[in-house]
Order: sequence, then structure tokens, then C-alpha cells
Amino acid sequence: MRPTKSIDHSRTEQVHFLRYEDINGEGRLFGGKLLSWIDEVGGITARRHTGMKVTTAAIDHLQFKSPAFLNQLVVVTGHVTHVGNSSLEVQVDTWLEELDGRRHLMNRAYVTMVALDDHDQPTPIPCDIAIESESARGEWESAIKRVELRKRRRQEGF
Ligand SMILES: CC(C)(COP(=O)(O)OP(=O)(O)OC[C@H]1O[C@@H](n2cnc3c(N)ncnc32)[C@H](O)[C@@H]1OP(=O)(O)O)[C@@H](O)C(=O)NCCC(=O)NCCS
Repeated sequence: MRPTKSIDHSRTEQVHFLRYEDINGEGRLFGGKLLSWIDEVGGITARRHTGMKVTTAAIDHLQFKSPAFLNQLVVVTGHVTHVGNSSLEVQVDTWLEELDGRRHLMNRAYVTMVALDDHDQPTPIPCDIAIESESARGEWESAIKRVELRKRRRQEGF
């Protein structure tokens, strides 16, 4: 059994006030920009949990449910949902925040990060996450299904 860290220990939130450089030719948030924020939040969350150097192995699920425009607030949040041997899964949610503070989910992505040693090889993660609520247990169980699916996908090449 590995020691545990709370999910809140590595929980990460990044807020962006959309500026011209974030916007595409259609006047909306550029999808590639959002992808880079998702990758960054996934990496920061994983680094905080592991205390190690990490790299991105995969990003699942990019479905842009609603657009965002200039001067809007976009909030990207990350928390760890599963820890494997050398990899961990971070759920990264992207929200559009209204003037009154209400948030609408724009996107949910699952980022798989891998911990690296000094030779940039995958290395075991020393600590698990503490499952302290029913929702965290549910997320962990769903994450196990996604991890298995990713393994099958890689093995079978689909
Ligand atoms: C990610 C990387 C380190 C994995 O190296 P590897 O030699 O394939 O490692 P392994 O097969 O031993 O797998 C290591 C772990 O990563 C997981 N993993 C590897 N590739 C994965 C993928 N495509 N999707 C999900 N998980 C993956 C494995 O399941 C394993 O997890 P576990 O230890 O928790 O069981 C390597 O592929 C790499 O360096 N990729 C480039 C990463 C990069 O540069 N990212 C920046 C963006 S380009």
C-alpha cells in the first residue's frame, strides 16, 4: 500500500480573461489555445500530486460544447481521478464563468500524465490519492474503466 495524498492537495484552477491573442478568425476562443491550457493544467496537477517531473501521454475527449468570446472568463480546473503505477489520470474541466459567478461546463478532458525519472523513463509514482467521498470513489471506478480501455486501444491499435 502506498501512502496517500488528498485530491485537494493537487487540485488546480487556472482563470483566463479572453484577449485578442486567444481568439480565432471566427471571433471565438481558438481550440488549440484551449488544448494548451488543458495540457498545462493536467501537467501542473500531476506534478503537484507526484512531486515529480511528468509528461503528457494522452488527452482524451475534446468536445467543444459551447463557444467563448472576447472578454469572457474561462476557468480550467484539474484534479486527479486515478493513479496507476507510473501514470495518473487528471480530469480537466473547462468552464465559462458568467458575470454573476455561475459556471457552465464547456469541455471535459481526461489527461494521462506519466512520471519520469532522471533519464526521462517512466518511474513509479510513490503516492496514491485518498478516496474520501462517494463521488471520488465513483470517479476512481470510472477512471479504471477508461484506463483499461486505453490499454486495450494501444494493444489492439484502434
Ligand atoms: C509517455 C511515455 C513516457 C510512455 O513511455 P513508454 O515507454 O511507452 O511507457 P510504458 O509503456 O512503460 O508505459 C508507462 C505508463 O504510461 C501509460 N501510457 C503509455 N502510453 C500511454 C497512452 N498513449 N495513453 C495512456 N497511457 C499511456 C502506460 O499505461 C503505463 O502506465 P502505468 O505505469 O500506470 O501502468 C512515452 O511514450 C513518451 O515519452 N511520449 C512522449 C511524451 C511527450 O513528449 N509529451 C509531450 C507532448 S508531445
